[in-house]
Amino acid sequence: MNYLELIQKTAVEAKDDLKNINSFSAAEDYRIKYLGRKGLISELFEKIALVPKEHKSQFGKELNSLKKELEHSYEELLSRFPKQKSAVFSEDLTLPGLKPNIGSKHIVTRTLDEIKDIFKSFGFITAEGPEVESDYYNFSALNFPEDHPARDMQDTFFVSQNLLLRTHTSPVQIRYMEKHSPPIRVIAPGRVFRNEAVSARSHCIFHQVEGLYVDRKVTFAELKGTLFNFAKLFYGKDVSIRFRPSFFPFTEPSAEMDVSCVLCKGKGCRVCKYSGWLEILGCGMVDPNVFKSVNYDPEEFTGYAFGIGIERIAMLKYGIDDIRILFDNDIRFLKQFIRI
Ligand code: DAH
Repeated sequence: MNYLELIQKTAVEAKDDLKNINSFSAAEDYRIKYLGRKGLISELFEKIALVPKEHKSQFGKELNSLKKELEHSYEELLSRFPKQKSAVFSEDLTLPGLKPNIGSKHIVTRTLDEIKDIFKSFGFITAEGPEVESDYYNFSALNFPEDHPARDMQDTFFVSQNLLLRTHTSPVQIRYMEKHSPPIRVIAPGRVFRNEAVSARSHCIFHQVEGLYVDRKVTFAELKGTLFNFAKLFYGKDVSIRFRPSFFPFTEPSAEMDVSCVLCKGKGCRVCKYSGWLEILGCGMVDPNVFKSVNYDPEEFTGYAFGIGIERIAMLKYGIDDIRILFDNDIRFLKQFIRI
């Protein structure tokens, strides 16, 4: 047999083998037999030294083209019988799947929703106002004197000389009264901004819910009754409540409401500074000057207003001692409050 016949014989054999291949491992055997390091093609290449000079170049050419042909058929085999992934994990259908992270309402949103629901059941509707406010709505219309310290650059983020980021939700009182006549029973939840150093106890962004009730003959007793019931519904009926006199430019008289410390149950602890009480809101009877700025007759109408700090009451309810955690969006924190 001459050397060229050797190449043909190998070609025929490879064609025969090819017909019987029906798996990846058979394709692998085919590769090893013909194209492997010690395979038949390599063997034939080794014989090239023995081929007579005049046939050498043809032998080389034909062997090279056979090699290419076999490589091509091997690639085709691979596309028909791809390598099976050997990793056990992807094959084991009984393995538990990866749990996706489940979204849930943030506790500030949840607290806001709870407050809205309680006041809705008292007959209050919800209104909103802009976060960028004018000096007029944020201060002047609410009876802040020109030189009141709250207008100071220290507390307020000014956008321009007359525009600022609202420092409280009280301007919504004015906006709402401008557009509606009494009786008014409205709450206004929203985000507020203060130019304060961020610490465990205070943040430069937080949320409030404003409340306003205006009608003929509204009394302080009604204010107390409403806020008393709100606190009992929110914190539970065992909570004790007290009102302390206070001052706000837009209410007269003004008060602050405390609840017995929900952490130590009034015994005294670090959170309540050993007083047994926690302040949760400011309130009072609407100042006649506020009514004047919206053209309500203070002789005819009276009303009460209140402002609740959401983060503060959420922290007390859930036992959180650093307000910054509420804004970090650390998944380890958020996961603790998942409720489906
Ligand atoms: N706006 C006050 C603040 O941010 C809270 C407040 C107090 C709102 C008394 C009221 C109120 O409506 O009557 O500190």
